[in-house]
This record gives sequence, C-alpha cells and structure tokens, in this order.
Amino acid sequence: SRIRHYKFTVVRKNTTRLCASKPIITVNGKFPGPTLYAREDDTVIIRVVNHVTDNVTIHWHGVRQLRTGWADGPAYITQCPIQTGQSYIYKFTLTGQRGTLLWHAHINWQRATVHGAIVILPRLGVPYPFPEPHKEEIIILGEWWKADVEAVINQAMQAGLPPNVSDAHTINGLPGPSPNCSYAGYSLHVESGKTYLLRIINAAVNEELFFKIAGHHLTVVEVDAAYTKPFKTDTVFIGPGQTTTALLAADRPAGNYIIAISPFMDTIVATDNQIATATLRYDGAAPSAAAAVAADVPARNATAVTAAFMDGLRSLSPAAAPSRPATSTTRSSSPSASASTRAVLQRERGVHGGLSAAPPAPYDYTGAAPANMRTTTGTRVYRVEYNATVQIVLQGTAMIAPESHPTHLHGFNFYAVGRGVGNYDPINDPKRFNLDDPVERNTISVPTGGWTAIRFRADNPGMWFLHCHLEVHTTWGLKMAFLVENGKGPNQSILPPPKDLPKC
Ligand code: C2O
Repeated sequence: SRIRHYKFTVVRKNTTRLCASKPIITVNGKFPGPTLYAREDDTVIIRVVNHVTDNVTIHWHGVRQLRTGWADGPAYITQCPIQTGQSYIYKFTLTGQRGTLLWHAHINWQRATVHGAIVILPRLGVPYPFPEPHKEEIIILGEWWKADVEAVINQAMQAGLPPNVSDAHTINGLPGPSPNCSYAGYSLHVESGKTYLLRIINAAVNEELFFKIAGHHLTVVEVDAAYTKPFKTDTVFIGPGQTTTALLAADRPAGNYIIAISPFMDTIVATDNQIATATLRYDGAAPSAAAAVAADVPARNATAVTAAFMDGLRSLSPAAAPSRPATSTTRSSSPSASASTRAVLQRERGVHGGLSAAPPAPYDYTGAAPANMRTTTGTRVYRVEYNATVQIVLQGTAMIAPESHPTHLHGFNFYAVGRGVGNYDPINDPKRFNLDDPVERNTISVPTGGWTAIRFRADNPGMWFLHCHLEVHTTWGLKMAFLVENGKGPNQSILPPPKDLPKC
C-alpha cells in the first residue's frame, strides 16, 4: 500500500452553463472536481485550503474512516468548518475498500458544485471479479441552478417553502446539448466490440435519478464500493450519494445513442421533470449524425422500475464480508446484544431534544396525517455500544408528500436486508429478510409509505451522521447521529483528533 497526497484548493470560478456565467465554489477551479485515485488499503492525505469567503468542509462519502472519524467531514458533526484562509489535512486509510465513491462538500448546499469521484482500484495484482474492461469512464450526475445555490435555499428557508428546483440536470457537469448556447453536451466515445466500465455517481442535490443508454444494457458489478453479482438491466436507479459501477458492451451497430437521465419523484407536487442527455458515440460515427435510438426514460413515478432495480442488487460474496449481519439481531432477545431503533422519515422541523437513549414510540406511519406535523421530540444522537449489531428500520410515510428518501449512514457499510410497503411489521417482516446475499451499501432509498431495514456492526467508534441525502431534507431536519462508543480492547478507540482540526 502507498501514501497518496492531494491538494484541494477551494476557489470561486466563473463558470458558464445555460448561456449564463456565475461564480461557483469549486475545488481547484474544476466542476465537477478532481478525481481522487487510490488502491485498496492506501492511505490518502488531502490538504484542503479554503480560499473562498464561505466556510468549507469535505466529506469522503462511503469511506469507512475506521477510527479516523475526525476526517469524515460533516460540518458540526465531526469537525468545525475550515474558515477562510485556513486549511485542514484529511488523512485516512482505505482499509478493505475498493470501487467507486464520491467526495463532496458537507456544509449548507455547497456540494451542488463541490464534488468529485473517488476511484479505489483493487490492490496491485488483484483483478476485478469481472472481465477486465477496455477502458473506464467516470460519469457524474448533477444539478445546475442559474441562481446562486445558497441564495436558493436561504430564501426558501426564510419563506418556509420548498426551494426552487434546479434549472437543469447535468452529466459530467454539462446539461444536454444546447444549440442556443452553442455547446455540445458530454459524449462518451467507444470502439465497436469493446467493453467499458462506467463509474456512475449521483452527485445531484435533491433528485434520485434514472440513467439509461438507448439500445444498450448495462451489467451492474458494484454499488457503493461493494461488489455485486452481475446484474443486467436497461435502467439504473441511483440516488444522491449512491454510486453504480457497470459494464457497457459496445455491441450495437456503430452510431450515436442517447444517454439520458431523468428524475424519479413520486410526489404529486414536483414540477422538475427535466431530462438531461449526453451521447454514446461509436468510433466512426459522425458527430452531427442524429442519434440512432431515443432513450425512453421511465415515467417520473415509475416505482416498479426502482423496485426491480433494487431487488436485482445482490452482494457478490457476503460470506467473505466482515460485517455480515449477525443473525443474532433477530435471534437474540437480549437487548444488550443488539441495538435497534426506528427513525421516522418525515420532515422533523422544529425538533427539540438532546442525547436520547430511547426511540420515539411507534405509531401508524402510513395513516392519516396528524393535525400538527411538527414533532416535539426526536432522537438527535443515539448511543451504540462498540461492536453491537445494529438494525435500523427506516420507515417512510406519505403524510406530507409522497417521496422516497435516499438515506446515508456515515462510517459504515450496511446490509439492506429487507424492504416493504406500509408499516413495518416487526413479527412477520423479518421472516422474509434476505440474510443470504443482501446488497451492501452506504446509502439506501426508503420507499414512499414503506420501509427499509438495514444492519451493520458498530465496529467503528465515533460520531456518525445518518441523514436523507436529498439536501433539502437534511436542511429540514431529516438527520440524526450515532455515537458509537470506544471498545475496551486495543485498536478499538477513535484516534486522537489531529492538531489542525478546525475550531469554531
Ligand atoms: Cu454524502 Cu452526509 O453525506
């Protein structure tokens, strides 16, 4: 293993999209930002220097940060922000991790423009568990606002209204081809007969997305830096914070094919149904030639497509995984051997509460909305014993608006063992859990008016954020943290904070 050094300079950069320029916050002047390359077990040292007037933090989304929680990045959870003119060195080791992840700013809505890919290759000499691709390509999906992004959310918060939807979706930083603004969108060049590895990252702020390449199938081989059984699909469903690595065989007649992304949003009130496109171009196809086949993206509320995609994802070798869910969670009746909580997925505006040991009492999550939607109590921090087996049932509601919630846990990969519609039934639903090959992830979509059950082993002491990765929901309070206590053995405590840890 090696040590890799990076320097991230946070600067404003005038950037033109949709025929207009505005200064945006970037890393090293790039949008999307630079790719962080490493191999499994490498140590990465990134010096982040803040040259903007805004406070900054960077989160390495999906990096486990074993005992190095000080390098995790969420503002006011594990660190105070890096102030103007200051710097902070993030240092961590990619222990046992390989695949595609992302990094992004983790303060306010800064990640709209401050994000990039993390590519962790297997250890030297270790092959992929799938055929070696001819080439690899990073595809980052995002959103673009014509207005200043922080202004959008600040105005919305002041007015107590949902923020404006973005003006465009982007693929590798570019909205679809726009003859008016005289630029082409992103294009992916392929040679006939070759296979490509696409590292697809959803860095959008508020949208779960469908991704599709006209006329082609994709074979998913990894999600969230965990290998999956090869899964052939014509549509990828990907939430903000999630990554999907898939093989693309260039096996169609040479030509141009449309790559399209579109939002999944089963809410009735959303107005953002924009499709962004890019081009898959075979060698020899004329750039001006019309796309051979249109990409028929699923309908905005195509819940069945999302369910089919999620059901298709299975761990490649869960037996070898270190944190395979211990069946003791369901077998054990001893509360000390397992910790379990229930997070209520609703807009918890006005939550007041402190360190809490008990989850809120369950009620009918999918019933009629109570008169006063504002919760008065909630779990802000939940204490977990070192090495406890944790099961969380994320219960969605449709009380305010039908929306699914891509929920992200910092510091862990978890197994998604079950999912269903309606209220979670603690007696019968666990009988149908997949404990054989559940997909391993760091971000999971919780269905509207339904639930998702996840399990992980709390083997990483520290303060770990859990939140909806739709940024607007984090702003509204759909968030909490787990405080995993230090263990008693050697190497079971969080390391001391680095000397340059920013102060508030
Ligand atoms: Cu990718 Cu707490 O976020």
